[in-house]
Amino acid sequence: MLKVNSWNGWDPLRHVLVGRADGTMVQAPEPAVQRDFPDDGFPRGTFGPMPEDMTAAATEELNAFAGLLAARGIRVSRPTPIDFAQTVTTPDWAQQSMFGCMPPRDVLITVGAEMLEATMSYRSRWFEYLAYRPVLQELYEHDPDMRWEAAPKPRLTDASYKPGFWDEYATITNPERLARVAVNDLALTEEEPLFDAADIARFGKDLFVQLSLVTNRKGADWLRRHFPEHRVHAVTFTNTYPLHIDATWVPLRPGLVMHAGQQLAEPELMEYFKVNDWQVVEAVQPASWRHVPRLSFCSPWLAVNILNLDRNTVCVEAEEKRLADQLVDLGFEVVPVPFRAVGPFGGGLHCATVDIHRDGVMEDYFPRRSGRF
Ligand code: ARG
Repeated sequence: MLKVNSWNGWDPLRHVLVGRADGTMVQAPEPAVQRDFPDDGFPRGTFGPMPEDMTAAATEELNAFAGLLAARGIRVSRPTPIDFAQTVTTPDWAQQSMFGCMPPRDVLITVGAEMLEATMSYRSRWFEYLAYRPVLQELYEHDPDMRWEAAPKPRLTDASYKPGFWDEYATITNPERLARVAVNDLALTEEEPLFDAADIARFGKDLFVQLSLVTNRKGADWLRRHFPEHRVHAVTFTNTYPLHIDATWVPLRPGLVMHAGQQLAEPELMEYFKVNDWQVVEAVQPASWRHVPRLSFCSPWLAVNILNLDRNTVCVEAEEKRLADQLVDLGFEVVPVPFRAVGPFGGGLHCATVDIHRDGVMEDYFPRRSGRF
């Protein structure tokens, strides 16, 4: 029996979507993002498919992960890749390539019985939802209570991007960058609501939306209006390249959140967790500190991009042994999952998945108000 239901990241996992690396591109230039890998064969301005050996290695790890989940009795669905090398157009623009469908977390979010397709803010990812439509249609057919939703498709004209942002941002200091992150003066304008689903962290009745390089204030506001039964909070962290909250502020179980050491929550957010008796633990330094793999646009903090199977069991990248020890000390059983090769395709174990069904109901884990929260 297929069912869509998930309110948080820690209730027992029954059905999950696991992405695919097939056909992933170093995407063609576009205003929202800059790719520049001069040492790996893709200097700025160039684009093309990820190297075949890398795609094969990532596919092997993704398939093994899907197998591991299935062996634990969790149902696994996979997307249907389309031709990501094609040029895509709308009446407003043409984009010379798409991206891929390894990180479904970026595009889809499940809140209760609803699965919502995000607006996205890269032109290369505008049509990415198509890779997930077969799964969404199947769920819609089989679960009479599933709510299938899509946020308004953005225009993504030049008016949605700050001209010259990337060149300018490269020249300023880190303190100057953090000052801009705190007020979300980054790549996007406020022309229209924009968000990636992976900028949302689900804690039952509370949804935390990170303002980032891909999520603007109107995006967070759209989510607030869309989920009237929830408290939707726009938040920022001390991260000079904020992109997806799930390697920064990681719910582990009721009362326990992990944050990536360098990426501190704003004081009001810390206070909100404190007055509600939540413990905030700083993650240990990741393995291969400062080593960023070939063609990767993620940071070493991808280490904390973990997936809960339930509130006592977490999947952690196999090389992150110190983090695994830390989680064992916090009372978790750790399932090590080799996932190093997947990083350059857009993320870790959390990015690569979307919860379709977890047990549980909406609960309020933050009974006390504090500051703007
Ligand atoms: N921006 C994060 C980092 O590099 C990676 C987060 C990836 N998450 C995702 N859902 N794709 O530290």
